[in-house]
Amino acid sequence: MADRYLRATGTAPGRFLARRLGLPLPVPLRRHSAGTSELPGPVLRLAAGETPPARGEAPYGGVVVDATGIDGPGALSGLHTALHPLARSLAPCGRVVVLGGRPQDGGFAQAAAQQALEGFVRSLGKEIGRGCTVNLVRLAPGAEPDAALDFLLSPRSAYVSGQVVEVGPAAPATPATPAAEPRTALVTGAARGIGAAVAETLARDGAAVVLLDVPQAGDALAQVAARLGGKALTLDITAPDAGERIAAALPGGLDVLVHNAGITRDRKLANMAADRWDAVIDVNLGSVLRTTAALLKAGAVADHARIVGTASIAGIAGNVGQTNYAASKAGIIGWVRALAADPELRERGITANAVAPGFIETAMTAAVPLVIREAGRRMNSLGQGGRPADVAETVSWLAAAASGGINGQVVRVCGQSLLGA
Ligand SMILES: NC(=O)c1ccc[n+]([C@@H]2O[C@H](COP(=O)([O-])OP(=O)(O)OC[C@H]3O[C@@H](n4cnc5c(N)ncnc54)[C@H](O)[C@@H]3O)[C@@H](O)[C@H]2O)c1
Repeated sequence: MADRYLRATGTAPGRFLARRLGLPLPVPLRRHSAGTSELPGPVLRLAAGETPPARGEAPYGGVVVDATGIDGPGALSGLHTALHPLARSLAPCGRVVVLGGRPQDGGFAQAAAQQALEGFVRSLGKEIGRGCTVNLVRLAPGAEPDAALDFLLSPRSAYVSGQVVEVGPAAPATPATPAAEPRTALVTGAARGIGAAVAETLARDGAAVVLLDVPQAGDALAQVAARLGGKALTLDITAPDAGERIAAALPGGLDVLVHNAGITRDRKLANMAADRWDAVIDVNLGSVLRTTAALLKAGAVADHARIVGTASIAGIAGNVGQTNYAASKAGIIGWVRALAADPELRERGITANAVAPGFIETAMTAAVPLVIREAGRRMNSLGQGGRPADVAETVSWLAAAASGGINGQVVRVCGQSLLGA
């Protein structure tokens, strides 16, 4: 669905009018999927408290501020020192990443100051504008920020802003060298929309992809699979034996498991028949737990595997007419956190994370009535909807072999939506 407003405000008269009326001024985002792999300028790295060197005409494309040493309220002024001079001068679609520690790793003053970083980052994300993103990476003792920075300082994270991602030390069993064989990735609900984009991005990033969808979507699924050189598996994920059937179809096992299939059956609770409740809970949550348990039991999930669930900002903020959907998506968040804390999975280097998309331009959101659709598109810091590729880039990052230190996280891909903020 074309975003005509974004196109109109890309013209001089459109921008003039929008500015006069005080309307949002979205900037076309610089995305990896559009063939851009670089930020629009160099990345400056400095510690909180340092003054950034002047750049003259060519602006910075990104800035990383190391705030791990901030251990009390007085030291917070270091954020102002480092970022005040850059807040207006960062290149359009630039990146700000603040590196912090975990609030639980110091005393009372450290806890307060490190939690303060969250409020700072979320506020700067809302005010910086011009397509720039602002995120916080919290480092546990012994953790390396590289995998998080590679993503957050690239066009792949164009629609990820206002997020807090905690990075722990990589699992003890992480192999020193990447596997020679391509990793096998299963994506459910891959015939169209976000799932098709996830499969495409994982294939681009080197995985052998297996695409699953319901038999009714078989033709579309076969086309996507053929385009990506992947394998199509037509199967209703709610079938009681779905996990066993996937395991049988993939004798070599799985390195990446992306639960993307999902449905909505919206009604206010007072008007919702029990079958609408049951269908949503079963597709979005029940089947995810069942199939994963069956795959683990069958030994089909490789060591160092990456499990990625699909939540939603509705599962964080709630939404009118979506008690069933929001419950299912919040359930995904609880589930990945529990998997991430499981000693056996940790020992095997398996991680579990979730993406929580906001307003993404797909068939699902094209069906939303115009006024609500426009509100969904604009009510975020970037003033526009995301694309399936934005979610897919985030999934591929969480699914990467290098992301072993990222576990139990929920990353919203929502342009810092006001919902779920
Ligand atoms: N589009 C958005 O704005 C948005 C926002 C938040 C979360 N999400 C979530 O992202 C995921 C993908 O969303 P989308 O917009 O691409 O949806 P979509 O409706 O375009 O695609 C969903 C796919 O899942 C498949 N599917 C449904 N039930 C299935 C089943 N029982 N077994 C196997 N496959 C099944 C469908 O056939 C379809 O191909 C969903 O989990 C959705 O809840 C989407």
